[in-house]
Amino acid sequence: MKGSKELLSELLAPVAPGMERMRAILAAQVDERSAAVRDMTHHVARFQGKQLRGALVLLTGEATGNTTDEHAAVAAIVEMIHLATLVHDDILDGAEVRRRVACVNQRWDNQIAVLLGDFLYARAFALSTQLSSRLCSRLLAETTRTLCVGEIEQSTRRYDFEMSRADYESIAAAKTASLYAAACELGARYPGGNQELGARMAEAGRNLGLAFQIIDDCLDLTAREEELGKSVGTDVEDGKVTLPVLLTYQAADEGVRAAMRDVYTRPELLDRRAALLAVCDVGRGVAQAQARAQELVLSAQRSVTDLPPSEARRSLESVFAFVLSRSQ
Ligand code: IPE
Ligand code: IPE
Ligand code: MG
Ligand code: MG
Repeated sequence: MKGSKELLSELLAPVAPGMERMRAILAAQVDERSAAVRDMTHHVARFQGKQLRGALVLLTGEATGNTTDEHAAVAAIVEMIHLATLVHDDILDGAEVRRRVACVNQRWDNQIAVLLGDFLYARAFALSTQLSSRLCSRLLAETTRTLCVGEIEQSTRRYDFEMSRADYESIAAAKTASLYAAACELGARYPGGNQELGARMAEAGRNLGLAFQIIDDCLDLTAREEELGKSVGTDVEDGKVTLPVLLTYQAADEGVRAAMRDVYTRPELLDRRAALLAVCDVGRGVAQAQARAQELVLSAQRSVTDLPPSEARRSLESVFAFVLSRSQ
C-alpha cells in the first residue's frame, strides 16, 4: 500500500516544479556562519514534513490563475513558520519524536529549542521582507500572533473537561487553521489581487485546517508512533482534552467520566493514553470527530467548486480529501 507521502506527492504533480523551487529556497535558508546553529538547522531541514501548507500556496495560486515568480518563496516562508511552530510546540507538549527523528528539545534541550524556533521565525520574516509586496509579511505576522494566542489558550484549558465543542474548535482554528487560511489566501491573491477571492480561499483553508487538526487529534489517540512518525499520546499525557476525548466524555456516564479525569490527573501514571483507552471506549468519539472533519472538508471543497475546471483545482480537491485519510 502507498504511504501518505507517496500519495501526496502524486496529488501535487501540477505544482511539482513550484515545490522543487520551494525546497531549494528552504535548503538555502539552513546556511548560517555559526557551526552550532548550522548543525541544528541541518537537523530540522534534513527531515522534511508533508509540506502541505507550502503546497496549498502553490495550488491555490494555480487553481485561481494567480501565479507569480514569488509564489515559491511565499510557500517556503509559510513552511518555515510552520517549522518554527513545531519546534516550539514540541517543547510545550514534551514531545520526543517529530518527522521520525528526535525533536530539537530532545536532541539538544528546551533552551536550544526556544532559540532555534525564534531563529526560524526571524529567518522566515527576513525572507518575507525581500519580496516585492508586503502582503506576505503582514498576513503572516497577523497569523503568527493568532497562532500563539491559540497555543496559549490551549495551555490555559488543560484538564478542562467542561470545555464545549465550540471552545475546542476556536482553539484549533487559531493554533492550526489560521496558517492554512493564510496559505490559501496568499496563493489566491499574492501580491495584492482580488480580496474577495482571497477571502473565499482563506475560508476554504480555515475549514481544511480545522479538519486537519481534528484528524491529528484522533491520530494522537489511535495511531502508532512508528507509522505517524511523531510522538503519540502527548495530548492525554499533557492534559489536553481534544475533540474525540471531549465527545467521548460528554456521552459517558459519571463513573466513566470520573475514571477519565483520573487517568488525566493521577500522579505518576505511566502511559496515560493506554490507561484512557482502557477506561472508556473512544471509538464513537473518534468516529464523531472524523464525521465533523469530513463535514469541514466538504465545506472547503464547496468553496472551490466554482473555480474554472483545471488540473490544479482537481488536485486541490484531492488534497482536501487527503487530510481525512492520511496516516502520517
Ligand atoms: C503537524 O502538522 C502540526 C499540526 C498542526 C497538527 P503536519 O502534520 O503538517 O506536520 P509536517 O510538516 O508534515 O511534519
Ligand atoms: C500543532 O499542535 C502545533 C501548532 C499548530 C502550533 P499539536 O501539538 O496538536 O500537533 P502535533 O501533534 O504536536 O504535531
Ligand atoms: Mg501542541
Ligand atoms: Mg504537539
